[in-house]
Formats: sequence, structure tokens, C-alpha cells
Amino acid sequence: MRARLPGFHRKSMGERLRTLIETGALTRDDVANLRGELDDVLAAADHRVENVVGLHALPWAVATNFLVNGREVLVPMAIEEPSVVAAASHAAKLVRASGGFAADADPHRVWGQIQVVGCRDWDAAEQALLGHRERLLEVAAAAHPTLARRGGGPRALAVRPLNPEPDTETSRMLIVELLVDTRDAMGANVVNTMMERLAPIVESLSGGQTVCRILSNYADQCLGRATCTVDPDQLAAGAFSGPAVRDRIVLAYQFAASDVRRAVTHNKGIMNGVDGVVVATGNDWRAVEAGAHAYAARSGRYRSLSTWRVDQAGRLVGRLELPLALGTVGPSIQAQPTARTALALLGHPDARALAGIAAAVGLAQNLAALKALVTDGIQRGHMRLHARSVALAAGAPLDQVDALANLLMDRGWVTTHHARAWLRGRL
Ligand code: MEV
Repeated sequence: MRARLPGFHRKSMGERLRTLIETGALTRDDVANLRGELDDVLAAADHRVENVVGLHALPWAVATNFLVNGREVLVPMAIEEPSVVAAASHAAKLVRASGGFAADADPHRVWGQIQVVGCRDWDAAEQALLGHRERLLEVAAAAHPTLARRGGGPRALAVRPLNPEPDTETSRMLIVELLVDTRDAMGANVVNTMMERLAPIVESLSGGQTVCRILSNYADQCLGRATCTVDPDQLAAGAFSGPAVRDRIVLAYQFAASDVRRAVTHNKGIMNGVDGVVVATGNDWRAVEAGAHAYAARSGRYRSLSTWRVDQAGRLVGRLELPLALGTVGPSIQAQPTARTALALLGHPDARALAGIAAAVGLAQNLAALKALVTDGIQRGHMRLHARSVALAAGAPLDQVDALANLLMDRGWVTTHHARAWLRGRL
């Protein structure tokens, strides 16, 4: 299977699906998942969430050209924003010319926390908890025996005092923290079960009361990373030479490394790519977002999640690292047919491989955004797709969307007001 599919974006949706089947990227059953009967999907949704009365659909697209650790990868992305999939595919094409992305990820280890308050003797409570570390680890492991059979389970237990000198707004507390390897599962249920199982023992050992018992979404022990190297010749755009674009990308990165307003937008561009994969694969994008932005501020100042520099051979080198506690198994993923197809398209990766791919897509997205920003600006590429959204929003019949979008672009009036006027025959 090759991830280079020239002309894929110019095909009709049916032709794209046929291509994916013919190249062996998807089976007919995988495709059937994408085109599930709406009534069935709605009925399933009614079992998953409370008070369901409808569905909110997102485009499910395929980013092409990705080469990750030497493997061809077609990337499923669920995202509503125009240009993101095209931008990721464009950047992946530039990067594959220099060997593609290198990506990896830590084992899937996440923290659970138990908050303990009201101890009479804080030092004795801490010592008692630490003195029973092994027992606590055993109880946590026994709360989920199948995890151990899959090679996972609790890995470490720590006790941390918080607010040792409380004031009127803070209380003294101990935090019991358990690091759990959840293998290929997202892990929230596993870890929350362990925390709730430990809480009564923690109370009796510490003599205090437990308050919160919950997983932490700050997955700083579960980082995904990607790096890429781009030959400057690949970067030439319009009047800008390749080396000029390379140097301007580094300057744009330095802006994001030094300024929080810019860093947030820079990181938002990275998350355009990461979230597209996270949502398509049925993972919890709010957890990933929360962890990513906390990680961006780990030095005490919010910074760019990626770095860009020029190496000794004059090539542009990008690197991205962020918490990526993603799952590839578990009921919440399996219950989503489109997520199953996303994982099939990715070649059924384990959690670590998926985190590496998501990091590569985030880095690609960042490269594409920076390249556009430092050359033509992002609006030129964005407006043609945006014009289609404007045409749709104005109520254009599907067979007239492209014609109307082109007309709006040609006249430079990309507004719903003008689109409606055209539809009423008044333009
Ligand atoms: C838009 O969704 C994302 C960008 O703003 C990212 C960036 O500025 O780096 C283009």
C-alpha cells in the first residue's frame, strides 16, 4: 500500500473509496462502516450518551503522502475546518522527499490521583502510605487483573504533600499518585476503578479522608514525538527561494517560542492535525487538548510545542513532543464503526504507534501552516474551500456549490450575502 495517491483530491467520493479498496487500504466492510445507516448510528448514539435527539457529523477525510518510520500511512482525519487535510498532505509530501517522519512514543502510562485531607499527623500519614506501597500496588493491580495479563498494570506509587503551609484559601493535603501502564487502552476507566478501590485503604492508613479519586489527563509519562528534516529546495514558494522560506519558518518558530499569543495559535495549528486523528480514531480529544497545553506551559511559560532549526547541511529540522495518551482498544473505540475503520486504514497500530502517527500529523500541520504564513499567507489556500462552506451555508444545491464558490472567489466577494443574492438570481 502506498500513501502517495496522486489526484486523489480531484476524484469523486465514490472514486476515492474505490481507490482505497483497490489499493488494499480498506475492505468493503471498512467502507460500509463509514457509510452506516443513519438510523442505526442514531440508535447506537442513544445508548452511548444521555438525552440524544440527533447526530453531529464531521467530515471524515484521508490525508495522503505520509511516510512514518519508513512505513506508508494513509491518515484518517475527522475535522470540519477547510484546508487542514490538504495542508497535512502537502507537508507530508515535502517531508517524504527527505525520508519521511521519524516518530515514537512512550509506553501508555498515565497517573491516577487520590486527594487526602484532614490527617491528624501528616508526617505519620505519609510514612504509613509509603510503608504500605507494595500492598497498595497489589490492591490496584487486583482491581484490574486482565491488565496484568496484557503486560500492563500499576508501575509506581508516590505520595506528595500539597500546601504544607496552608492559608485561608488552601488546605493542607496529601496526594497519592499511581502510575499505571494501560497498554493499548485509553485507560480512564481502568485508572479510575483503581483509584476508587484504593481510597478506603488510603483513608485507614492515613487517618484522613479522601476527596477526589481520578485519572490525571496530564500524561507527561506518555509522550509522543515526531521529527522531520526538509530539504530547502522543497520549500520554494512563489517569489521565495527554498532557503528563504526555511529561514522565515525558523523566524516564525522563534516568534512562537517567545510570545504566548503567537504560541497559542501556533499550537492550535499543531492540534488541527493531532485532533483530526484523535477524533477519527474515537479518542478523547478534550483530554489530549488539556494535556498538550499544560505540557506547552511546563517551563512555567506557555511556549511552542514544536521546534524548528537549520542543521549543518542547511536542512530544516522540525521536532514535536506532546502528551498523547491514545487508545486503540476498548469498548468506547470499538463501539464507533468509523473509529474501527480509521484504525484499519492506519494498519491497526498499537497505542504507541498511533501516538507517533498523531505527532507526525501535528508536525506536518505545523510545517504547512508556517510555510503558508511566511509566504503567501494562509488566506489564499483557505478561501477556495471557505467559499464552498459559504455557498453551502447560503443554501446552494449541492450540484451548484463549486460553481458558486468559484464565482465568489473570482469576484472577491466570499460572503453569504453575495452567495444568497446569486442564488436569488440577483447577481
Ligand atoms: C488555523 O486553524 C491554524 C493557523 O492559525 C496555525 C498557525 O497560525 O500557525 C494557521
